[in-house]
Amino acid sequence: MKFHITTFGCQMNVHDSQWLTRALESRGWVQADESEAQVFILNTCSVRDKPEQKVYSELGRIAAHVKRDETVFAAVGGCVAQQVGTGFFDRFPFVKLVFGSDGIAGAPNALEQVAAGKGNRLALLDFVPVYEEREQPEEETVTIPETRQAFVNIMQGCDNFCSYCIVPYTRGRQKSRHPDAILDECRLLVESGVREISLLGQNVNSFGLDKGGVGVSFAELLTRVAAIDGLDRLRFTTSHPKDIAPEVITAFGELENLCPSLHLPMQAGSDRVLKAMRRKYDIARYLSIVDGLKAARPDIALTSDIIVGFPGETEDDFQKTLDMVEKVGFESSFSFKYSDRPGVAAVNMEPKVSSEVASERLMRLQTLQNNITRKCLKNLVGVETHAFIEGLSRKQGTNLTSWKGRDLAGRIVNVEMHEQSGLVGMMVPVRIVEAKKHSLNGERIGELW
Ligand code: SAH
Ligand code: SF4
Ligand code: F3S
Repeated sequence: MKFHITTFGCQMNVHDSQWLTRALESRGWVQADESEAQVFILNTCSVRDKPEQKVYSELGRIAAHVKRDETVFAAVGGCVAQQVGTGFFDRFPFVKLVFGSDGIAGAPNALEQVAAGKGNRLALLDFVPVYEEREQPEEETVTIPETRQAFVNIMQGCDNFCSYCIVPYTRGRQKSRHPDAILDECRLLVESGVREISLLGQNVNSFGLDKGGVGVSFAELLTRVAAIDGLDRLRFTTSHPKDIAPEVITAFGELENLCPSLHLPMQAGSDRVLKAMRRKYDIARYLSIVDGLKAARPDIALTSDIIVGFPGETEDDFQKTLDMVEKVGFESSFSFKYSDRPGVAAVNMEPKVSSEVASERLMRLQTLQNNITRKCLKNLVGVETHAFIEGLSRKQGTNLTSWKGRDLAGRIVNVEMHEQSGLVGMMVPVRIVEAKKHSLNGERIGELW
């Protein structure tokens, strides 16, 4: 079977899609362009209304392919699948499978069944009580991405119920994976050539604190993964400020391969709004974490998520968000207009901020952020570091080949070099020579490794 997979949403979805692709390939299925695909798989995100709407418009597009060949069918997975469930069957006759995030482990077999014409339609929407290990490739058949970077899941779901957020409903309760399984997967990846691992979870700081926990904290897990011989870079996401342990903060100064960057979603700069969001920290606590991180690792790059226009947010509250963005000096941030999601507590909170006011606040926030980002990048000119090459740069020069890599903090660094191929997955020592709006230019100063 030829399949085409489209992914929306967070890195956990990206990782789920990578896993599903591998699982289908091991069954002899092959990836194909849309024009040739017999099965369309959408891995969906429901965190705001916009990505949800994209799913319906994608399905509208897929309907055209069904017209080309009526045996073509679609499968919808991920958070919108969990949310809408079998409702997809009513609206889109060619959707034959829906699977939620806990159902993904069974998706490859279910897809085979549907493709074989057995069982008309299938829905895998049950939540499982504990982390379910997914099939892993045999040791000899592990294939790693050319970039030598990998994601590793350490948990599933979320127990926080922030008042605006649908994730606990779509991904279910928090379920930590067994640390031995995590370590085995990381070791196998590194032995197979992976140089950078990102540990993934909706709230990694509370790893091990659910009933899947076996007494290993996130700090302990980090230390054990970092100790794997040959692992050059270690990252993790996402980190909820309320649960970050002092040992995780100090780890930034102690673990050599732990990259100096942290995504620490702040969401808002006003204590009143944070309380209504049920984030369970206040600005004083957030700032003390920032101080701790900067003391442990002065070059740490902090990034954030921010919501504007949360119900009840006043101009004064919003001003506090701007003040905090300035004070912390986030290198970059993702900012979003609050979006009502079905079933979450904030739906019933009043007064709603009008879309016009929220858009205007979003623009002010993004203008401020762009200025700060520019300053942060400018300060790096002259710094010596190394870029981990991911591929060719989007823009090519005239003589040399421009390669795109990332520095330790994950910033994009473009480097012009003589080599026209073969550099993906290599480290290039560089000196930063120029700061662009969202990236850096570097010059090579040493041997590749
Ligand atoms: N687990 C992560 C967040 C995952 S969702 C954490 O707690 O940090 C990614 C981001 O989407 C959130 O940080 C938040 O900023 C944003 N988000 C979530 N729900 C939203 C909503 N209803 N409207 C607008 N933005 C939302
Ligand atoms: Fe959503 Fe909050 Fe859980 Fe993050 S911690 S996924 S924002 S409920
Ligand atoms: Fe979206 Fe689900 Fe991730 S809602 S952000 S895909 S957890």
